[in-house]
Amino acid sequence: MANRILDKTAIADDICRFIIEAPKIAKKRKAGNFVIVRANEYAERIPLTIVDSDIERGSITLIVQSVGKSTRLLNSFCAGDELADVIGPLGHPTLIESFGTVVCVGGGVGTAEILPIARASRASDNQVISIIGARTKNRLILEDEMRETSDELHIVTDDGSYERQGLVVDPLSDLIVQGIDIDVVYAIGPMPMMRAVAELTEPYNIKTLVSLNPVMIDGTGMCGGCRVVIDGKTRFACVDGPEFDAHQVDFDTLIRRNRAYAQEEKVSLERFENEQVARFEGLV
Ligand SMILES: Cc1cc2nc3c(=O)[nH]c(=O)nc-3n(C[C@H](O)[C@H](O)[C@H](O)COP(=O)(O)OP(=O)(O)OC[C@H]3O[C@@H](n4cnc5c(N)ncnc54)[C@H](O)[C@@H]3O)c2cc1C
Ligand code: FES
Repeated sequence: MANRILDKTAIADDICRFIIEAPKIAKKRKAGNFVIVRANEYAERIPLTIVDSDIERGSITLIVQSVGKSTRLLNSFCAGDELADVIGPLGHPTLIESFGTVVCVGGGVGTAEILPIARASRASDNQVISIIGARTKNRLILEDEMRETSDELHIVTDDGSYERQGLVVDPLSDLIVQGIDIDVVYAIGPMPMMRAVAELTEPYNIKTLVSLNPVMIDGTGMCGGCRVVIDGKTRFACVDGPEFDAHQVDFDTLIRRNRAYAQEEKVSLERFENEQVARFEGLV
């Protein structure tokens, strides 16, 4: 079945929100699930978190940040266009219980992935304290949605262009020092950010879950592309995760593996951009 784009909105610099027709996925998805998307028949498969769904409309919401060729290609699509395929829901849903007080930490586009977790935590009667951050004000996303679903919201920007200047670990550190009784921390964002959160909470023995973003290809545990080391053991993020106990993650290996194709990704992006320019100038 075709996955038509019903709506597309630019929500920040290089970040777009898509509402996509996918009735079966909309019915089944839970917080923490993702889909594997192929924009057109020549595109690679990329994993994207299901941010929201509307069962009546038969649609899911995806939020995409342009970082390389595939995400740029996707963000060049418009309402009315069709995606080659959208497969899911994939991955284990997030562990949500009535823990008491949960802190939801979202960095950059990770805020799109933390929003469904904050909503599900609220629906399970937790007190939700959220912290969201971005490099700069123009990159901050979902402030209103996070405010609506949180009992308390802290906002930081790396450059101080909006709200508090700093990193997401700064308000988290303050909450811990103030003696707030935190039962669980969920943290999603760039790898160094998730590692910093893990290092902060570990000495206090605060249960911390992170959503890992290794390179994924099939999303079904068959290709091995997404293997990660958890507590010294190999795990596949697509079928065993993508969420894991932050204190057991081998971040060094993960960061090294995610850089493995940096040169190829750079060449691929340059080629894509040159093609776009040529198309714009009517050369192809
Ligand atoms: C479970 C999961 C959920 C995600 N959810 C979102 C989301 O909601 N919104 C969003 O904008 N991004 C999300 N991502 C990241 C997104 O998949 C990557 O940004 C995208 O695949 C990059 O592809 P590219 O060709 O544009 O960039 P490339 O130039 O190919 O790569 C740029 C960087 O992205 C990472 N990457 C590349 N290919 C993949 C791949 N196939 N799988 C995972 N990471 C890759 C690598 O670290 C790489 O260095 C998610 C990743 C995972 C694993
Ligand atoms: S993406 Fe292939 S094994 Fe996980």
